[in-house]
Amino acid sequence: KSIVVLISGSGTNLQSILDSIQEGRIEGQVSAVISNQADAFGLERAKKADVPAHVLSHKDFADRESYDQALMQLIDGYQPDLVVLAGFMRILSEGFVQHYLGRMLNIHPSLLPKYKGLHTHKRAIEAGDREHGATVHFVTPELDGGPVVIQSKVPVFADDNEEDLSSRVREQELQLYPLVVKWFCQDRLRMENGQVLLDDKL
Ligand code: GRF
Repeated sequence: KSIVVLISGSGTNLQSILDSIQEGRIEGQVSAVISNQADAFGLERAKKADVPAHVLSHKDFADRESYDQALMQLIDGYQPDLVVLAGFMRILSEGFVQHYLGRMLNIHPSLLPKYKGLHTHKRAIEAGDREHGATVHFVTPELDGGPVVIQSKVPVFADDNEEDLSSRVREQELQLYPLVVKWFCQDRLRMENGQVLLDDKL
């Protein structure tokens, strides 16, 4: 299977997927990594793994529609079976999302539907939550609202700061995302009529 990964930053989730492929756990390859930020460290991770790395800056486009159009063209050049959003910090237009419906995944650092959007760790601490976590979901037009594939919970301790909690959640993210990508590449996971179907008999 061909996988295209979109990033904006450090790319630790990208790395966990590259490592899983390297270790033979995912039947697929990362065909390209695309970042909207030129200085994203994840681009170095791609190069190190001999994966084509592209920068497509949103600053070079007049509006969201034209950026998303160009992004779609770049992605489709790699004929991906799966598009993986791994810390891609852009809201995607409806047309873009529809084009990849059922073949685009996102990871979000909260127990969705709690804390859609940004600053999830801070919000969980401020709310006094006892647990927090990470979610992998299919991407649908509603931001962070697509059907959930899997979640992982972590405890929130009384003296946690944002960094403590985010690194505890990140550890879970790095376990979850390669697992879900693996299932997808094995054709064990799909979205149908807005629902997640996971074949755990295989
Ligand atoms: C992760 O916390 C992910 O859940 C969020 O952005 C962060 C990306 O981190 N959407 P990285 O670039 O994979 O290191």
